[in-house]
Amino acid sequence: MKDFDLNRFAVIADIHSNSDALKAVLQDISAQGIRSVVNLGDHLSGPMAARETAELLLDHEMPSIRGNHDRWLVENKREDMISIDGAAFDQLDARHLAWLRDLQPTLWLSDDIFACHGTPSSDTAYWMEEVSPEGEVVTRSRDAVSSEASGIKASLMLCGHTHLPRRMDLPDGRIILNPGSVGCPGYIDDTPVHHVVQTGTSAACYALVERAKVGWTTTFRHVPYDPNRMIELAKTANHPNWESRLATGWVN
Ligand SMILES: [Fe+2]
Repeated sequence: MKDFDLNRFAVIADIHSNSDALKAVLQDISAQGIRSVVNLGDHLSGPMAARETAELLLDHEMPSIRGNHDRWLVENKREDMISIDGAAFDQLDARHLAWLRDLQPTLWLSDDIFACHGTPSSDTAYWMEEVSPEGEVVTRSRDAVSSEASGIKASLMLCGHTHLPRRMDLPDGRIILNPGSVGCPGYIDDTPVHHVVQTGTSAACYALVERAKVGWTTTFRHVPYDPNRMIELAKTANHPNWESRLATGWVN
């Protein structure tokens, strides 16, 4: 983490094997004059370009943590993997898997900046959203969101996982920030019940963070890119249903 600018940096998450979205985001970050990036996980799982994404991430050294899919890629046997993990696994070699295996589930960038994938204690739980019994994705209560942050003495707490860009300020001034997803603007999940997350934009999403006199100034960036190569790769990998989400941000 040498040379990481703790006062002004980019936050990326949930690339999900979309190397063209990642390239667009890295170019945009560079164009903003930002040289420090932190990456919150779910890097490679997906039916597109896991290998290219891994190579890009190995070339651009940045503090990174492990998402639930990254964990499943190194913990599960190939035959037990869900299809998007298996599609990624088949493109990876030992070097890429070793990189995933070394990632930690959480990270303190400084004593004031904490990063996790889902919540501080889980890489599969949603922090600022919850799924209703009817399968609606809704905002969690302030108390529920706050209780997940108990004991985290950081003014800035970063998370990903839901692919939904969002900032919440807790009553004591601490901030939770989800930068949205670089490469997967919509998905379907069956846990705890069937639900759909969809942002309604195909743009690659990330956040810029700048330390202010009081607190943090945060900016969400939605970067347009051409998703057609990724759509073709998803189709070739037998995931034609990814076309809609990549082209429009809507799952259906
Ligand atoms: Fe995730």
